[in-house]
Amino acid sequence: MKHWRIEQMNWERFDPQRVDPDIVPLVKAASVVERNGLDYARYLKNVFADDPAFQQAVDNWADEEVQHGDALGRWAMLADPAWDYMAAFERYRQSYRLELDVAASIRGSRTGELIARCMVETGTSSFYTALGDATDEPVLKAICRQIAADEYRHFKLFYDHMNRYLRRERLGVWQRARIALGRVTESEDDELASAYHTTNDPVGLPYDHQRCIAAYMSRALRFYQPRHAARVTGMILKTIGWTPHGRLHALIARVLYRLLMMRQRRFARVMTTV
Ligand SMILES: [Fe+2]
Ligand SMILES: [Fe+2]
Repeated sequence: MKHWRIEQMNWERFDPQRVDPDIVPLVKAASVVERNGLDYARYLKNVFADDPAFQQAVDNWADEEVQHGDALGRWAMLADPAWDYMAAFERYRQSYRLELDVAASIRGSRTGELIARCMVETGTSSFYTALGDATDEPVLKAICRQIAADEYRHFKLFYDHMNRYLRRERLGVWQRARIALGRVTESEDDELASAYHTTNDPVGLPYDHQRCIAAYMSRALRFYQPRHAARVTGMILKTIGWTPHGRLHALIARVLYRLLMMRQRRFARVMTTV
């Protein structure tokens, strides 16, 4: 059961005057990554082939991810009527494909796979919260709120299943931390960069990873505020099973925020040189 529907959104309230041109490329890129959730569902159902309860949950999860893509794609077409969401998605699928037909997780264990999923949902829930807080455009704000709430529920879903597998597979805090941080740093790999390329670059312009990841990240990280970093910190620590006391937690959140801002500035510098 989806928690909201695209048709229920008040699309009439769309206000072109309030569209931040720096947000549009991010929404376009995010829309195709979200829609690609169906592929990821196939991969997950292979990894968890003998777990029908989880497979059912994955189907529901993928339906919601596709809806995220469709809502963001529809908004991006209002913001830029010349842009075609489905054509962009096809272009993305041609350029970026996951290895789907696997028998086991690329993370080494099912717990590891679920930790990686928790990290992805941590990233998306904080990203849409930050974007929703940053935009003044009322329809995008409303979409981001709905999506951020879904992403937080997805985090809970994968977290609960992770705990179930953890009882069997018994990964320690360090192993969990290694997998979690590994997945966080992968956000700078090809998935988002090629989504940026296929949804924003004119056809014919060659893919340049450095340029595309810098174009995406320099914009996306700009919207993060300290409270978003604090939320990310809490979700990461919960996933790896480490509960430091309040002051240490707050310190980690501050360090994370500074790291995010350093990355933002580094990517912004790359943008001035390409
Ligand atoms: Fe999503
Ligand atoms: Fe999600």
